[in-house]
Amino acid sequence: MPVITFANAKGGAGKTTAALLLATEFARQGFRVAILDADPQRWITQWHDITGALPNIQVISEVSVASLQGHIRSLAGEVEYTIIDLAGARDALVTAAIGLSDHVMIPVQGCAMDARGGAQILDLIKLMEQAGNVKISHSVVLTRVASMVTTRALLTIKGLLATRGVNVIDTPIAERSAFRELFDYGGTLYTMDPAKVSNLDKARENSRAFAMEVSRLLPMRVVRSPATRNWLKLVRDAA
Ligand SMILES: Nc1ncnc2c1ncn2[C@@H]1O[C@H](COP(=O)(O)OP(=O)(O)OP(=O)(O)O)[C@@H](O)[C@H]1O
Ligand SMILES: [Mg+2]
Repeated sequence: MPVITFANAKGGAGKTTAALLLATEFARQGFRVAILDADPQRWITQWHDITGALPNIQVISEVSVASLQGHIRSLAGEVEYTIIDLAGARDALVTAAIGLSDHVMIPVQGCAMDARGGAQILDLIKLMEQAGNVKISHSVVLTRVASMVTTRALLTIKGLLATRGVNVIDTPIAERSAFRELFDYGGTLYTMDPAKVSNLDKARENSRAFAMEVSRLLPMRVVRSPATRNWLKLVRDAA
């Protein structure tokens, strides 16, 4: 059961949004997903409260340093993916979550190039790797990228991160009203009404491409349903 943590020491980088997109895409493909809400501001929990029950999704609230490992252990036989949403901080809970993750996703706002909070997490990962003599796999995902940002500008940011040896997810998450509205109205990109939400098709395409890339990084061997098999085939074909 891969554990994927979203971390950036700076608030507002798009962690919760990216975590929710990934969780809901995986759930849609037939995987059982747990989201551990490790942010005291409880954005994921609030989203879940207004959304109500959704197939394949469970949200665990009020996760603390003391309870984190126990949650992950008890979820191991229960879900295919565990996704942890952290506060924009660099504290003991962030360190604990990173230490227990199979992959750390660091959302960084591509447009503002404000990567300082992301750099703090990259430094923390390096420190933990050295102290524990382990490898902590991680990637940066560019978020809130305005549609007018050119491919060239993105390639420049990716190049800069590559010189630090950082893997950058090819699919940037665009700035889209559909992603904002998830938190205002609840639900998923697939329960929204395309007549009411602008560019919903593009938002879905973006979210799906992001999830597919993450699937490729963290292959899931459990094949449960025809939907899941189709998804795994799509991932393989796209590789
Ligand atoms: N791709 C996006 N498109 C449009 N709005 C976005 C996008 N990503 C994030 N936002 C908006 O930006 C704000 C901050 O995003 P989000 O809550 O995902 O960031 P965060 O890193 O989890 O912040 P915090 O550190 O406070 O938990 C929210 O209002 C959210 O709706
Ligand atoms: Mg958040």
